[in-house]
Amino acid sequence: MSKFKIGILGFGTVGSGVFNVLRENHDEILAKTGIDFEIVSILDLDHEKIISVAGDEKLIAKDIDDLINMSDVVLELIGGTRIAFDFAKKALNAKKHLVTANKALIALHGTELFNLAKENNVSILYEASVAGGIPIIKALREGVVSNKVEWVAGILNGTTNYILSEMKNNGLSFQTALSQAQSLGYAEADPTFDIEGIDAAHKITIIASIAFGVSLNFNDVFVEGISNLQLKDVAYAEELGYRIKLIGLAKKVNQDIEVRVHPTLISETQLVANVDGPMNAVLVMGNMLGPTLYYGAGAGSDPTASAVLSDVIDLARSISNGNKVFHIPSFGYEDSNLSSLKFKKINEISSGYYIRANFVDAAGVLAKITSLFADKNISIDEMHQKMLKKNQTENDVIIVVKNAQEKEINSIINDIQKMKSNVGNVVKIRLEELAK
Ligand code: NDP
Ligand code: HSE
Repeated sequence: MSKFKIGILGFGTVGSGVFNVLRENHDEILAKTGIDFEIVSILDLDHEKIISVAGDEKLIAKDIDDLINMSDVVLELIGGTRIAFDFAKKALNAKKHLVTANKALIALHGTELFNLAKENNVSILYEASVAGGIPIIKALREGVVSNKVEWVAGILNGTTNYILSEMKNNGLSFQTALSQAQSLGYAEADPTFDIEGIDAAHKITIIASIAFGVSLNFNDVFVEGISNLQLKDVAYAEELGYRIKLIGLAKKVNQDIEVRVHPTLISETQLVANVDGPMNAVLVMGNMLGPTLYYGAGAGSDPTASAVLSDVIDLARSISNGNKVFHIPSFGYEDSNLSSLKFKKINEISSGYYIRANFVDAAGVLAKITSLFADKNISIDEMHQKMLKKNQTENDVIIVVKNAQEKEINSIINDIQKMKSNVGNVVKIRLEELAK
């Protein structure tokens, strides 16, 4: 029986989860793998936390070098891109394998880190960085390896999904729902990353690289979060048979790819539309396989720790089979076969759209609006007028189109905005049909 020694950097939600899952399942993992996994060192600013969870002060690392020296694999579970980046480089330079749950680190500094790992003949694994406990990296890199991936889309952020679900189902305010998500350990240290879609954008950056063999390219991902979403639109969408979800999407369109994150109307008949709370769901469309859906806990201590440990186990098994490094390429493609697909700008995409405008009641308003769409040859799928209050003259007008070019829709919105009877800002939310 071989031993595999684990060092943990950061003993917060995920780090302590790793300790907990290994304590609970050590013998099960040993029976499956024949490898005795042991946590030998833990580094955290808060020593009390280590003692209270692990109950053994001998596990407290003197410093980062001490931890690296003792370990076969270093788990980076601190988060952020400063100290985590420095520690990750230190571990790789010391020729130690690295496992991380840190999507920001991979999306922003992955290229440098993977090159460093290669120079030092060690591996970096990052399953927990996307969709928490769901084995989506494994599914994309191994499960659908025989297919061309056409698109990947899904709910990639547990915090925002929790907020949206609590607002819709339990009438919580945005702020209360966010505070709950924070106390349950779902949110990033800076929750703006969740709310503004940045965390989901880090994840879809990683997904796009695995799905299409492109370099990590966070800067070309379009990002819009949920902070400007109005309850009114959540309610109108519901009346029309849709749910609003923060969706990350990566799609190949001819020789280009679209990679974007934004609030999205999804038909309530789709499974993804019914995924609530901190759960994530990722749809993958393979050219021969068709759609497959991966669902599970997208955040939280033990689920995320399960994904971290699955990486550790994959790595140890690969090594115990005589490999020096993990036997599958980091992003599933041989380096020499990386593609240079162009990332589309947001105004070059086509999508479905929900548009809401607010008008004072006047003759000809609806006719004028429909003519703007007709002039651009865009078919309106639904149009509704809502009288806001009895005896008032303001109306919300809601228009749904299933397919149009973003730049044409923006131009129509500009024209609506200029109409005399329009009051307030026109709202635009994209709509995706996903798999039938
Ligand atoms: P936490 O904030 O709960 O844990 C991070 C830990 O690292 C804290 O205990 C922190 O101590 C400690 N730390 C900070 N700076 C240092 C340092 N210089 N040296 C040693 N320890 C330090 O974060 P999470 O566990 O939630 O997240 C960790 C990573 O996992 C992040 O990259 C996150 O994005 C990712 N992730 C998190 C998920 C989740 O559900 N929480 C799910 C999937 C991925 P202190 O608290 O004292 O600052
Ligand atoms: N803050 C992240 C989320 C953690 O809410 O999804 C999991 O990556």
